[in-house]
Amino acid sequence: MVRTIEWRNETVVMIDQRLLPGQEVYRVCHDYREVARAIKDMVIRGAPAIGVAAAFGIALGMRQTRRDVPRRFERVCKTFAATRPTAVNLFWAIDRMRRTFTRVRAHGVDEIREALLREARAIHDEDIAANRALGQHGAALVPRGAQVLTHCNAGALATAGYGTALGVIRAAHAAGKHISVMATETRPFLQGARLTAWELKADRIPVTLITDGMAGHFMRAGKIACVIVGADRVAANGDVANKIGTYGLAALAHRHRIPFFVAAPTSTVDLACADGDHIPIEDRDPREVTHIGDRQIAPAGIAVANPAFDVTPHQLISAIVTERGVASAPYKGSLRRLVRGQRREPRRREASRRT
Ligand code: MRU
Repeated sequence: MVRTIEWRNETVVMIDQRLLPGQEVYRVCHDYREVARAIKDMVIRGAPAIGVAAAFGIALGMRQTRRDVPRRFERVCKTFAATRPTAVNLFWAIDRMRRTFTRVRAHGVDEIREALLREARAIHDEDIAANRALGQHGAALVPRGAQVLTHCNAGALATAGYGTALGVIRAAHAAGKHISVMATETRPFLQGARLTAWELKADRIPVTLITDGMAGHFMRAGKIACVIVGADRVAANGDVANKIGTYGLAALAHRHRIPFFVAAPTSTVDLACADGDHIPIEDRDPREVTHIGDRQIAPAGIAVANPAFDVTPHQLISAIVTERGVASAPYKGSLRRLVRGQRREPRRREASRRT
C-alpha cells in the first residue's frame, strides 16, 4: 500500500498526489508552512489525510523554534485552520493537538515537542486502524459479485492508509466477494481517474473508469449494485458533504433504488454542525475548470463556478459506515451514539429488565 504521509527524520514526507499516476514523487517538508501550502495546493488531499498532515505540521512547527512557545503554537494552528474549510478532520486534528498542548504546556519545551509528535503519530496510526475496522463493517453490506460505484478518491491516498470507501472495497475484495468497481473520473480535479483508478489497479481489484455523466446510464442498465463514497463532513442529522457530484449520484441511486453508502471514520462526524446547510463549501480556482493541466479547454474570460463539494441530504443515504459500526436513519441518534461511544437505546433495555 502506498505511503501517503509520514514523519521521517524531523521532516514530513508526502507523495505528491498532483503528479499521479504519471510520476511518484515524494515531497519533503522541512518547515510547517510547506505542509500548510501542500494542503492548500492539493499535494495531499482527502479529509483524513489533511487532518494527519495538519497534526504532523503542527508537531513540525513546534520543533522549529524554542522561543515564545504558546504564541508560536497559536500561530501554527491558525495557519493550518486557514488551509481548507470543508473537511472537518482538519479541525478535529487541530483540536486534538490543542488539547495535548494544553495538557503539557507547563512542562519544558522538549517535553511539549515530544508530546505533540506522539499525538500526531497517534492520529496517523489510529486513522489506519479506523479504516480497517470500518472496512470490515462495510464489507458486510456489499453483495457478492457486486459492481460498486465510487466517486472521487476515498482511498489510501485520502487517508493515512487503506481508505474509507476504498477500505470497504478492499475488505470486500479480500473477503472473496468477487466485486468489481466503477470509478467516476471526478471532474474537475480528476481524483477518480488519476488516484482511485491507480490505487485499485495496483491492488488488482477490477475497475472500470467512466466519466461523471455516465453514472445514470449504468444505474438504469442495472449494472450498479451499490454506491460507496467517502465524506468530508457528516452533520449531526446525517447530511454529508463530499466531493462535488456526490449529491447527483445519490439522487440517481435513489431513483433506481440502489443502496447509497457513506464510509467515514467518526473523526469526520461533526455533531456541532446541525445540518448540511451549516457546512462551509470550498470554492476553488476557476482554472481547474477551464484547464486540463496546462491546456485551456474553455474560452478565455468565461464565467466559471467551481464548488469543490456538495451536500447530500440524509434522506438519500442508506447507511453511514464508521469504525464503531453502521449508523442508519434516524441519524441524529445513531451518529451521536457511535461518536460518543454510547450503547444502543439504554433506556429501553432498562425498562425490559424491570418487567
Ligand atoms: O478535494 P479533495 O480531493 O480533498 O476531496 C476529497 C473527497 O471529497 C473525498 O471523497 C473525502 O475527503 C473522503 S476521503 C476518505
